[in-house]
Amino acid sequence: MASGRRILVVGGGLGIGQKVTQYLLQHHTAKVVVFGLHVAPELGPLASTGRLHIVQGDATSDAARAQAREAVLEFMGGIDTLVITVGVMGEIQRLGGMSSVKLLQTYSINVFAPMLMCQTFLPELRKTRGDIIILSSTVDKNVKYAGWIQYCSSKAALTRFIQVLAHEESDVKVHGVYPGLTKTTMPAEIIAGKFTGIMTDDEVQKFRNWDKLGEIEPPEWCANAVAKLAARDIPVWTNGVCRYYYEYDPDCRNLRGSAQL
Ligand SMILES: NC(=O)c1ccc[n+]([C@@H]2O[C@H](COP(=O)([O-])OP(=O)(O)OC[C@H]3O[C@@H](n4cnc5c(N)ncnc54)[C@H](OP(=O)(O)O)[C@@H]3O)[C@@H](O)[C@H]2O)c1
Repeated sequence: MASGRRILVVGGGLGIGQKVTQYLLQHHTAKVVVFGLHVAPELGPLASTGRLHIVQGDATSDAARAQAREAVLEFMGGIDTLVITVGVMGEIQRLGGMSSVKLLQTYSINVFAPMLMCQTFLPELRKTRGDIIILSSTVDKNVKYAGWIQYCSSKAALTRFIQVLAHEESDVKVHGVYPGLTKTTMPAEIIAGKFTGIMTDDEVQKFRNWDKLGEIEPPEWCANAVAKLAARDIPVWTNGVCRYYYEYDPDCRNLRGSAQL
């Protein structure tokens, strides 16, 4: 359980990433740098552990990524695990009505930011024979909804990136994680009916039913598995593969909800 690993959580200030950060600080001796746009107030008191450093910035910006690298080297002296939880749904819209600006933004956040974060930290991660953990989504190939072109296609690119990066790099392990449908800001607007007429009625109803039946998972389920992976508490034999979080952490298996996106 004790781990002195040095971990950067990109997007670690909110959502699943926030819970990853909390777990690492509350259940491990890991040092953590959080890099994200916004940071939940719950992380404030954890600064007193002396093991948390926060860099507020945009992962799509070259300058902000350089700032995150500087902070990692200064605060932790290096890095053992890079965890990437950034991701946005992007504009939920069918192709005909889609904004080109928003399309590029979605790819910048979901695909280019993770690629460039890996590029930034690869030299350090090779030195420590470290791990990269990236949250993708099963919309990458098996699941589709009307209006989700940006999200589905960008996650497909991200999953493919995970596979090819692991193939390229012999000194670094790369693990892709699929969350279940998780109660963060992501599904809230769908349930509120904001995309009726873009998604089909059946699709919107499916999300509402999951919500009504309490089947949308709390972020801790996936986050705890990701934190254990980051701290190397779970033995992993795969590399360059995306799997559900509970396939990495059998302790979560009985807890998972049935909403699989
Ligand atoms: N929730 C689900 O049901 C679900 C299902 C499958 C897969 N996933 C994937 O799991 C990951 C985490 O999702 P989540 O539900 O935790 O979403 P979330 O609550 O919206 O969190 C996403 C995180 O990414 C950060 N972020 C977004 N754009 C950023 C940028 N340009 N620079 C830096 N940070 C940025 C967010 O910070 P700000 O909010 O401050 O921008 C936030 O910390 C995503 O990759 C998502 O695609 C989620």
